[in-house]
Amino acid sequence: MDLEREFDRVVAADHRVEPRDWMPDGYRSTLIRQIAQHAHSEIIGMQPEGNWISRAPSLRRKAILLAKVQDEAGHGLYLYAAAETLGADRAELTEKLISGRQKYSSIFNYPTLTFADVGVIGWLVDGAAICNQVPLCRTSYGPYARAMIRVCKEESFHQRQGYELLMTMMGGTKQQRDLVQDAVNRWWWPSLMMFGPPDAESSNTEQSMHWRIKRHTNDELRQRFVDMSVPQAVKLGVTFPDPKLVWNDERGHYDFGEIDWAEFWRVVKGDGPCNAQRVAHRRQAHEDGAWVREAAAAYAAKKNSEAVA
Ligand SMILES: [Fe+2]
Ligand SMILES: [Fe+2]
Repeated sequence: MDLEREFDRVVAADHRVEPRDWMPDGYRSTLIRQIAQHAHSEIIGMQPEGNWISRAPSLRRKAILLAKVQDEAGHGLYLYAAAETLGADRAELTEKLISGRQKYSSIFNYPTLTFADVGVIGWLVDGAAICNQVPLCRTSYGPYARAMIRVCKEESFHQRQGYELLMTMMGGTKQQRDLVQDAVNRWWWPSLMMFGPPDAESSNTEQSMHWRIKRHTNDELRQRFVDMSVPQAVKLGVTFPDPKLVWNDERGHYDFGEIDWAEFWRVVKGDGPCNAQRVAHRRQAHEDGAWVREAAAAYAAKKNSEAVA
């Protein structure tokens, strides 16, 4: 009882819960699930864009894209490490990902058809990720909050490089401008889905807000993203594929059309355009890396026995 009261006090005072502190089992398991899903998303998210590294149109674009994709690997690492502070086993988390028992963000199950997709992913997908992650810098679990501070700094570079790429393409030929608009048309709705189901159907939101794991509801963050993106689209010279997108003076926000939730659930449940391909690729990469894990373990064992001797 005392421990629980202390935990509640720490959370209510906006202090951080640290790995050695007592915490409710539900808090721990909710965090492990959320952080693991987040880590998996970073790692799977390397694939759609990694696909374009060898086909980048210039040395400069290649260097930028390489740096961005490597950042995502780093984000995955910080997050798996944060999950380990809660007692999760990293090998087990990977196993859950490649066996399909744990999810990752459904956005990465869509294909990247042209190089304009690299720009639109940076602008919209990393942009939506920033909206989700900035409030997580103040989440109640210390290691998660601290990882997010670093991640968010890198995410803003990701968004800038995407927007800058699109600006360049929009200043190019008609064909280039068409590629950008086509990519925007394909990524806009899936980006809105990144904030998760509507509040009325989001089962975990209330408890997570109480524990201050979550700071804003899905719909609040989605609205913030829409409001932020519309002026950026105007400046860029593209439109979003939504005839109902219009400024509402009374609300002080943009209204927007109904999201296709049937599509969202279909992709979440594994039936998106690239789900099978993404997981198969990750499984193959894990198997290909087995020798590295074995070598690292053998090296550690050797160093250990030397130290003992
Ligand atoms: Fe990331
Ligand atoms: Fe990113």
